[in-house]
Amino acid sequence: MLAKLTLEQKIDLLGGVNEMFTNPVPAIGLPRFKMSDASLGVRTWGPTTAYAGGVALAATWDREFARKLGESLGKDARTRGVNFLLGPGVNIARSPIAGRNFEYLSEDPFLNSALVVPFIEGVQSQGVIATVKHYALNDQEFNRHNVSSDVDERTMREIYLPSFEAAVTKGHVDAVMNSYNLVNGVHATQNDFLNLKVLKGEWGFQGILMSDWDSTYDSVGAANNGLDLEMPSPRFMNAKGLLAAVTDGTVKESMIDDKVLRLLRAVLRYGFLDRPQFDPADSTYSVTGRAVALEGALESITLLKNDGALLPLDPARIKTIAVIGPNAWPAVTGGGGSSEAQPFEPVSILTGIANLAGPKVQVLYSRGLPEMNDLFRDTGWDGPIKVATYPSRDFTGTPEIATKPSIDNFTRERHGPRDGTARSVRYTASYTAVKGGKYLILAASQSGHSDGFKMLVDGKQIPTPPHAEDQAPQSATLDLTAGQRINVVVDYLPHETPPRLGLGIAYEPDLISADARIFAADADVVVVAAGFNSIMEGEGHDRTFALPWGQDALIEAVAAVNPRTIVTLTGGGGMDTRRWLAKVPALLHAYYPGQEGGTAVAQVLFGRHNPEGKLPVSFDNNWEESPSAPWYYPVKGADTSLHVTEPGREPVDYVIPHVNYGDGLLVGYRYWTTAGKHPLYPFGFGLSYTTFGFSKLEVPASATASSTVSVSFNVTNTGSVAGAEVAQLYVSDPSAKAARPERELKGFEKVRLAPGETRRVTIGLDARAFSYWDETAHKWTIDPGKFVIHVGDSSENTPLSAELTLK
Ligand code: BGC
Repeated sequence: MLAKLTLEQKIDLLGGVNEMFTNPVPAIGLPRFKMSDASLGVRTWGPTTAYAGGVALAATWDREFARKLGESLGKDARTRGVNFLLGPGVNIARSPIAGRNFEYLSEDPFLNSALVVPFIEGVQSQGVIATVKHYALNDQEFNRHNVSSDVDERTMREIYLPSFEAAVTKGHVDAVMNSYNLVNGVHATQNDFLNLKVLKGEWGFQGILMSDWDSTYDSVGAANNGLDLEMPSPRFMNAKGLLAAVTDGTVKESMIDDKVLRLLRAVLRYGFLDRPQFDPADSTYSVTGRAVALEGALESITLLKNDGALLPLDPARIKTIAVIGPNAWPAVTGGGGSSEAQPFEPVSILTGIANLAGPKVQVLYSRGLPEMNDLFRDTGWDGPIKVATYPSRDFTGTPEIATKPSIDNFTRERHGPRDGTARSVRYTASYTAVKGGKYLILAASQSGHSDGFKMLVDGKQIPTPPHAEDQAPQSATLDLTAGQRINVVVDYLPHETPPRLGLGIAYEPDLISADARIFAADADVVVVAAGFNSIMEGEGHDRTFALPWGQDALIEAVAAVNPRTIVTLTGGGGMDTRRWLAKVPALLHAYYPGQEGGTAVAQVLFGRHNPEGKLPVSFDNNWEESPSAPWYYPVKGADTSLHVTEPGREPVDYVIPHVNYGDGLLVGYRYWTTAGKHPLYPFGFGLSYTTFGFSKLEVPASATASSTVSVSFNVTNTGSVAGAEVAQLYVSDPSAKAARPERELKGFEKVRLAPGETRRVTIGLDARAFSYWDETAHKWTIDPGKFVIHVGDSSENTPLSAELTLK
């Protein structure tokens, strides 16, 4: 087939077409091949089954479930004729505010690797190519197109690359997607180190390396540094950019052939030319898939607090249950962006609870908080708001001035020019507090998540600390005295016209709806469904650590009238619970539980399912203490610039901000255990309605460094109901020559046990379990000497430990 192609036809195969396809070449009978996002459901091609994937999958700590989910997604892809599934995403959850953590897995490379391998095997077993992404170091959404992740090689090798390495060397993934960001100053799509040295060299990757959508910046650079397929269209890897380069030898034709062969070989290996990709044996509306979605949600929901054994609830002893909060209904199944699968019939927490509680239980529902637009519309500003629209992006030049009574009509805002020219808009308003107390100020834009804005109250930027990611809705609580007048300025950079900004202030107690207060006071028990959703947390922008606006106040208000208040959280990881956690007896984290989430939450609340999820991330107390916080935003003054010439277009200069990964190896629990400090809830933690005991640890006293070390111990269900425990094994290396994190996860096993039952667990530790990356020798190394094996149920609770000497 290759021999039949002209050079132009070969080059045509290096770029995608119609957003989600590879290019066809009818001359050799090669059709186009179809792609789809991704690991929470096969979206892109209509409604689908929405699963508890990503961070929720990681919370299951269940390798077999990862395989089952992969198989189910593979089937969903086949019945939609999809050849490439654009997942799994395996970037490390370095920081809780990163907008796509919910799509990824965990903060730990070992857990990610353990799950990604069976997941990929599951997808690919169905005749669908899996695509591991985003290679590499795409650990934030803030400025994701321009930012450079600057990181030393050891940190890269030990933390950020192993999940990709496992996907390639153990999962045999057939496609990899490069990330948007630069790594150490070089775009991923033309990064020699990542693509040629490591991926295709050391790991021997034989599949297709594709770009993320519009993440290619140089024709020759990409062609010569490993990129095989530019998606979604060939802006750089096209005849204009490459023909002359091949003719003059800057790019070797054998290099182009290699890229084409990678695609052709995969196509033949998968039989894409021998059978239709549409598999009539699978169902587009899949009842089996629905069961997998439920299983994932049940296995992932993590019980974090259960004072006085409030849970499980007994439906026979409950007459009235109040279900309150913005996440109670409609169902929140996933975060936002390209992974957002549209489920056929998602079950909300409200309907899940009502279905399970049955007709004898009265279920009262209130959203509890107003809709954002109502808050904007109902704000009683002192007078008209001044809207100054500048003919520039930096508030310079002579503005057009308009006035408006409120900044609402959030999605229909029509002020400002509509000629597509870049503008900056300054809103100036004043507000007088009628009563003394807490006020909520809120601003949000809704323009493809690309807008930026900054709020100032009396000249001071809020919220404090300012959330540098200024695209998500932003709110702050203001303490005002009766009669106090404040000046509010919002500087807004609309990405496109017309601009869409909403701005409002409300007296906090007035935010909480009267029915929510009454229902909460009357009910036997209250469930407050709080957390993020696909607007507040998603691709293209980072989220806040604080809960979305008004929710802290809502939980406080409910807990104040009903001590039997249970909070459920939706979101990609940890969030700020400080204002109310001590006031509520029970807390559970549902991550993004997919379409069956409401049923699963209800089953856990009522004890039909014993919770078994374990945190795949450390749940921090606050953002400031999070180990990545000091290192998260670009280093001031360290910007570099980049000159990019797209064939046939004017050159463009880009500013490249640099994020210094100064937190190094100390990501998540590696930081907390090394610093001897504690997050709110540690990595690996999760409660059950039963209790477990660990005993009889057996570790050989000594072993040779290259052998597999076998570690055994008992896990016993010491309580009175059946349940599942995740036994976790951490390794410490106190005699290492290099500084190492205090402990690292190197093994785990999920065990399901009847009351009183004991299971002996054996975990094999290979050489990698004891190794670190030697920066001088550029290889994995073991320092012989003392190691400590810890076994327990979280990174902080490891009741068993034993020493081992490696020779
Ligand atoms: C995302 C990828 C996704 C692609 C196609 C990009 O914006 O970063 O993860 O696969 O779009 O939808």
